[in-house]
Amino acid sequence: MSFFITFEGIEGSGKTTQIRRTAAFLRERGHDVLLTREPGGCPISDAIRRILLDPANSALVPRAELLLYAAARAQHVEEVIAPALHRGMTVLCDRFTDATLAYQGFGRGLDIALIEKLNAVAAGAFAPQLTVLLDMPAEDGLERARRRNLDPALQIEGRFESEALAFHRRVRQGYLEIAATLKRFRILDARGSEDEVFHRIVSALAPFLGEQS
Ligand code: TMP
Repeated sequence: MSFFITFEGIEGSGKTTQIRRTAAFLRERGHDVLLTREPGGCPISDAIRRILLDPANSALVPRAELLLYAAARAQHVEEVIAPALHRGMTVLCDRFTDATLAYQGFGRGLDIALIEKLNAVAAGAFAPQLTVLLDMPAEDGLERARRRNLDPALQIEGRFESEALAFHRRVRQGYLEIAATLKRFRILDARGSEDEVFHRIVSALAPFLGEQS
């Protein structure tokens, strides 16, 4: 049976590390896992990602940004997510429709109803059954993201990380507001050690896996 799980959180919340660990954990339990991310996940959407995250593109206007995220998602859903779910895979996606509500809606101030319509166009009938929100104060997340960017071995994708603290606070608040209205969300504290956070995720997954938490 297919299972669609998304991970969300502000910059530096540890999502990418934790989603990789979760994929390994589920594979060990026999799940056929597809690990993917947005924006990206297939060549056309990866090309759109490069436009979106290139710090040289500071002139990108919010509505164009919104439409590019929607375009990247439409391609990704049709080319990657839908076929994997139809094959019965467990799909783990690093960000999805909620990121557009949080960043372009709450962060940029674009109309929420418009974003919901575009999300519906881009994602069609595909909605996650579970969304893990790794929550932490914006200050802590940005501090972690900036430290990561100082490491030359790690990729620097700076356009959002250079946004003001107030922007990231709005994004975090947005995520919390969205999460409060939807049953599929699990809000987890993203502070603490990598192992501590991972154990919180495993506990949140347990009911879905038919195991004790
Ligand atoms: P990542 O750092 O998690 O890979 O995400 C890339 C950036 O794109 C991150 O700053 C959040 C942003 N983003 C949006 O603004 N809207 C969206 O719909 C998505 C999927 C990501």
